[in-house]
Order: sequence, then structure tokens, then C-alpha cells
Amino acid sequence: MKKNMLTGVAAASALVLSLSACGGSRGGGDEAAGDGSNEGATIGVAMPTQQSERWIADGENVQAQLEELGYEVDLQYANDDIPTQVSQIENMINGGAEALVIASIDGTTLTSVLETAEAQDIPVIAYDRLINGSDTVDYYTTFDNYQVGVQQGTSLLTGLGILDENGEETGEKGPFNIELFAGSPDDNNATFFWNGAMDTLQPYLDSGVLNVPSGQTEFEQAAILRWLPATAQARMEDLLTVGGGERLDGVLSPYDGLSIGIISALTSGGYSADELPVVTGQDAELGSVKSIIAGEQYSTIFKDVRELGERAVLMVDALMNGEEPEVNDTETYDNGEKIVPSYLLESEIVTAENYEEVLVDSGYYTAEELK
Ligand code: BGC
Repeated sequence: MKKNMLTGVAAASALVLSLSACGGSRGGGDEAAGDGSNEGATIGVAMPTQQSERWIADGENVQAQLEELGYEVDLQYANDDIPTQVSQIENMINGGAEALVIASIDGTTLTSVLETAEAQDIPVIAYDRLINGSDTVDYYTTFDNYQVGVQQGTSLLTGLGILDENGEETGEKGPFNIELFAGSPDDNNATFFWNGAMDTLQPYLDSGVLNVPSGQTEFEQAAILRWLPATAQARMEDLLTVGGGERLDGVLSPYDGLSIGIISALTSGGYSADELPVVTGQDAELGSVKSIIAGEQYSTIFKDVRELGERAVLMVDALMNGEEPEVNDTETYDNGEKIVPSYLLESEIVTAENYEEVLVDSGYYTAEELK
């Protein structure tokens, strides 16, 4: 995977370099980093965890692309521990970081450390996850998270045969039994995913085409703190008993790691590989794409973290050169203190039908890696 990422990085860096060159030639005060003026400036990059491949790839991409532009990078992973992340950011500031890129663990816990950043005029970019309750967050880059949820709900409906591949209703009336999972309640994205998915599923729940045997249809009931696979597995085991033993046809899962836990609970709960319910996911993690190819997990959502890294690096470089980063959304992401100007990227549904086209042809994985 690393090799592919770096190929993507090289292409992205070329783009970043050419964009920086344009910035410089517009006659702004400072020269672009690529021209040497910010050479050696340190950028702090705070990532949540190495327990999930996507965040490892995110960190590597951002680091490689920043280094390509001549920046030094202080990249830290916080093992999903909030105090660790706070102290890592403090250390970055004390170590002279001139800009911060932060994928938070809990979006509400950084207010005080970010005040220190603000006092020193260090710009802050929220990476993928919004930082809440702080007016110090300057920019945000992420995917269209509501749309990710819509895609998760849609792929569940497609997998059940309620929608066809064009998104048209087939007339299939079920009823189908499904259970619902949501992400970590302290991650701002989790409610966006949930709302997108539930807005898509609600009409079918209302009409009785879909039924939730456990009756647990509230976000608070479905949420999995810190996105932990083991917690999802335990909840799925419970649901198999509270649901009165009714066979399940589908499970809405917002993240591949949770899907792995869910599938393992289902397998030990008596579902053989060929009668597993339709299980969704997110992130196109390697193990889960293999599971999709093997016919276990049904779908995932591909978010190209090479593009996300590139966006974050463009934002950093613009700010370091006294320019305004490009954004494409100034309405959606209200963090309680301000609406954070954002750049939103698009995601894609991946199933066994299209994984080659989406993941292999784009160079995200090689065919070899997926064997
Ligand atoms: C990210 C998802 C990821 C989840 C768990 C969210 O903030 O947007 O891509 O699946 O965290 O790591």
C-alpha cells in the first residue's frame, strides 16, 4: 500500500508544487515554500490512532507531501487517548510548529491547547474531523460526511434488493430485519454519517419494508465509543439475543473496523459465511476489501485519503505564504463558535462489483495486495 500511496503522493506533490509556484508568481509578499522561504519550517500533524490503516495512510501522505515542499514534519499518533493528543499538540507548539494539522479524537477537548496556538498565531487546520467549541480552528478539510451516510444507507438498500444499481426502487417489499450501528459520539462526523444513512432508510422503516428487531433506532443506542471493533462485536452479540432470535438481513455499519467486529459476532452467533446479512462499512481498509471480495462484508465507502492529504497540504502551504486557502463550503460545519470554512471531497460506494475499477485502477491498491 505504501508504494501506491507514494505514487499518488508524487503526483499530488507535483500539483502542489505547481500551485505553490502560481502562488509565488501572483506576487504575494512571501515566496512559496517550494521556492525556499518556508524551507525547514515545522508543521505539527496530530493523528488519532494507528489501530486503523486509514489513519496510518493519512499521516504518511500528509508527511510525505509536506516534506516534498521543504517543510519539517512533527507527526504524532495519540493511541486514541485524549490527554496524549493534548500533550502532543502542546509539545508541537513548544517545539516551534508554525502550523497544525489535527485529526482529533474528541472534537471538544482541544479548546484550551488551541488557545495557546492562537496566542502564538499558529494556524490550525482540522483534518477530516471537525474540532468543536473553538474559534481557533481556521480551516477544515474532509469528505462530504452527510453524503457518506447517504451512501451507506443506499448501499444497504441496494444489497437488500430494495434499490437497483441505478438507485431505482425495485418494488421489493421485504420485510427485512436490520440492526443499526453508529460511530463514536465524540466524533463530529458520526452524526453526519448517521443522519445521512437514517434519512435514506427512514421511509422504508416507516413503511415497514425495514424492521429493527431490537427497536434500537436512536443514535445514542447505536453509537460505539471510540469506534472500537470489540465494542461493536459485543453489541452485535447482545442484539442477536434482544432481537428475539429473528434472522437478520442487514446491518448498517459506519466503519470497516466495526463491520469486522459485527461479522465476527454474526459468525459466532450461527450465521454461516453464505447467509451473512448485508453489512456496510467505510474506509476501504485492506482486510475489509478482501472480505467484500470473499462475499462476507457487502460494501464499504472509499474515501481517497491521498486527496485529503493533498487538500490539507495545500491549505498549510497557502497559510504559510499568507494566502487564503481554497474552500468549497462555508455553510455546513458550524463548530459552535464559528462556521469553519471547509473543503469537502467526494466519496464512492465500493462493492464486489466495482472494487477493481475504483480501488485498483486508481492505484489505491494493487491487484496483488487484494489477493
Ligand atoms: C472518519 C472515518 C473513520 C472513522 C473511524 C471518522 O472520523 O471520517 O473515515 O471510519 O473516523 O476511524
